[in-house]
This record gives sequence, structure tokens and C-alpha cells, in this order.
Amino acid sequence: MIRLQQVSKIYSLGKVLVRALDGVTLTIGPGEFVALVGPSGCGKSTLLNLMAGIDRPTSGEVWLERERLDCLSDDSLTRLRRSRVGIVYQFFNLLPTLTARENVALPLLLDGVQYGEVERRVAQGLQRVGLAHRAEHWPHELSGGEQQRVAIARAIVAEPRVILADEPTGNLDSVAGSAVLDLLEELHQDHGQTIVLATHSREAVRRAGRIIPLCDGRIEGLEGS
Ligand SMILES: Nc1ncnc2c1ncn2[C@@H]1O[C@H](COP(=O)(O)OP(=O)(O)O)[C@@H](O)[C@H]1O
Ligand SMILES: [Mg+2]
Repeated sequence: MIRLQQVSKIYSLGKVLVRALDGVTLTIGPGEFVALVGPSGCGKSTLLNLMAGIDRPTSGEVWLERERLDCLSDDSLTRLRRSRVGIVYQFFNLLPTLTARENVALPLLLDGVQYGEVERRVAQGLQRVGLAHRAEHWPHELSGGEQQRVAIARAIVAEPRVILADEPTGNLDSVAGSAVLDLLEELHQDHGQTIVLATHSREAVRRAGRIIPLCDGRIEGLEGS
């Protein structure tokens, strides 16, 4: 499903080079639930951004299903992000001037899905995360946990095979965090979606089928082979 081959990512800050990833090789199979763990700054977000096609590697290959992302044009990457991967962030990233329903609808509208179909899928998505009754609310009227569930609805409406989540419980209390993890686990079980989670949460790690430990931009031990 996802394959990285000798991937490195180097950021340059003026004259200083930061090696965020250093020769990472890993394969994640369809339907896996994987936790990426490691100290802050070890390269988790960078790795997820490469898998999502948000960023490009300095060297190495990034494959999603049968496509080699590091070779795609920016337009193709944008299309791929709208339909093939769902992305969930620590700070939810909902647009404050759109309601919950509109936030969830946005990626479908941008992707040219017919309006009736958009309505149907958005209703289904909000239902799925237990927030049908909050459809017309603004983000600031929702709790953190609710905002993250709206963000998950937004990530799943295009029915992507892969969900990438960057510390999705990092900004939530433990009850709201558990609810978010329940939801991700359900999606994984019910639809066989592949889930890659960067996390510090012990609870999240416990639920994952495999743990990939990162340290200083490298995978530690024998994992990931
Ligand atoms: N856009 C950027 N420009 C420069 N350095 C960056 C950038 N993004 C990340 N880094 C650096 O790359 C390393 C890995 O960062 P990141 O992937 O965000 O780690 P994590 O998500 O595990 O905390 C860190 O040293 C960070 O400072
Ligand atoms: Mg990070």
C-alpha cells in the first residue's frame, strides 16, 4: 500500500542543513494500523507529509499503491490528496468561516463531485463520527474532540484507502482522545482502511497492529523491513 525506499529529506535553513529523514525504507501493507513513535523532532511529521504527497523527498522513492509520488506533478499530487488519502492533524485545521457540514463538503466540492452526491456523503460522514446534530455549527462552537471528529469526517468522505493522522489526540483530553482513537479503530476494522498514526499516546500505541520507532530520522531496530 505504502512503500518508502531509501528516503531522505534534508531541509536547509540558511547555511544549516537539517536531516529530517535519513535513508528510511519501510513497507506498510493494505489494512495495517501502524503507529509511528519517537521523540519530538525525530521526523514523524516529515514522514507523514511525504506519504501524503504534501512534501517531496530529497532522495529516495515514495510509493502509494501503484504510484510513485516523488515523480508526480504538483497537480497530480493535489488530486491524489483529495481522493486517495485522508489526513488528520493535531490542531484539526478546520476552516473557521465554514460550518461543520461545509468543512466536510469542501474536499468533495473541490474534486468536482456532484452536489447531490456531496450532500449524501457529508451527511453519512457526519453520522459516522456521531455529529449529525452538529452539522450547522461553526468550529468555535464545538469542543476539541468534536472538531477532531469533524476533521475525521472530512478525511473519510472521499473514501480514501489510507488515513494519515499526525498526533490526532495530542491536543485532546484523554476522554476525547479515546473517542477519536475508537473512531479510527472502527474505520480500520469496518472498512479495512490503512491507518498510519504519528503519536506520543500510549493508548494509541497499544491499539496499533505495528509500531515503527523513529529516532533522528531513522527507523530503529529491525522494524519496517
Ligand atoms: N519546514 C522545515 N524547515 C526546516 N526544518 C524542518 C522543517 N520541518 C521539519 N524540520 C526539522 O526536521 C526535523 C524533523 O521534524 P518533524 O518531522 O516535524 O518531527 P516530529 O514530527 O517527529 O516532531 C526537526 O529537526 C525539524 O526541526
Ligand atoms: Mg510532528
